[in-house]
Amino acid sequence: MRLDGKIALITGAARGQGAAAARRFVAEGARVIIADVNDDAGKALAAEIGADYRHLDVGSEEAWAQVTGELDRLDVLVNNAGVLHFSPLPQTTLADYERVIRINQVGTFLGMRSVVPLMTEHGGSIVNVSSVEGLAAMPLLVAYTASKFAIRGMTKVAAVELGRHNIRVNSVHPGAIATDMVKDALGGHDVDMTPMLKKLAIRRAGRPEEVANLVLFLASDESSYCTGGEFSIDGGAAATHGLAPS
Ligand SMILES: NC(=O)c1ccc[n+]([C@@H]2O[C@H](COP(=O)([O-])OP(=O)(O)OC[C@H]3O[C@@H](n4cnc5c(N)ncnc54)[C@H](O)[C@@H]3O)[C@@H](O)[C@H]2O)c1
Repeated sequence: MRLDGKIALITGAARGQGAAAARRFVAEGARVIIADVNDDAGKALAAEIGADYRHLDVGSEEAWAQVTGELDRLDVLVNNAGVLHFSPLPQTTLADYERVIRINQVGTFLGMRSVVPLMTEHGGSIVNVSSVEGLAAMPLLVAYTASKFAIRGMTKVAAVELGRHNIRVNSVHPGAIATDMVKDALGGHDVDMTPMLKKLAIRRAGRPEEVANLVLFLASDESSYCTGGEFSIDGGAAATHGLAPS
């Protein structure tokens, strides 16, 4: 099994892509800690797949200290928790901007900083979930795009600092993945993604399980020479640019 004997903490794993990664990691032999603020869904998933659950608001320094303080070793951290917020730049409130930055960007920083002491002796792998919005801009997503670019940058700083401890750090850049994140950000309304998806080389939304395959590769020793890298999983979204005919 590809994660045999490894201990992995996945944030935002109560549902969506994090839940798919948790399922996959357990199937590959890892001891998984699901960390989320959605306690009901997180506990239910943990009970179903044989994982542990911890309440963790990733934007809270105290919460990270509490959760990592219970561990004496960690092999894998997946900084997956994230939120999306749509609004035009002039209408984006400071409170909304700071909320997104706190969870996506500060949460990833705190996560990486918190686990270094748990990985220094044995090495480890940190997988930071950014987005195609960490590679290029999307209108109406100023806070989200800023946070995802920051994740891409801090991944590279961590990689060059931590390589000497055999800690690898990579970022993952999903495109349109079929989860409830977009719907939630639109106040529970479904949106027809068909016109957008038709522009992709692979003309459909991605599945959370497909992202889990990439996260698994980066978490496992199979990616032992990968660090500081940015891995797109977007059906080809980032392979083209705005001048291309649709
Ligand atoms: N779905 C997409 O199309 C897509 C595309 C690119 C990147 N991403 C990124 O992938 C990651 C997972 O997204 P998803 O689509 O599975 O979303 P999702 O909304 O289904 O899941 C996000 C999870 O994060 C948790 N969460 C929110 N705030 C938290 C906090 N403060 N502390 C801990 N947990 C918190 C939620 O409870 C939820 O379980 C996110 O970082 C997102 O930005 C998603």
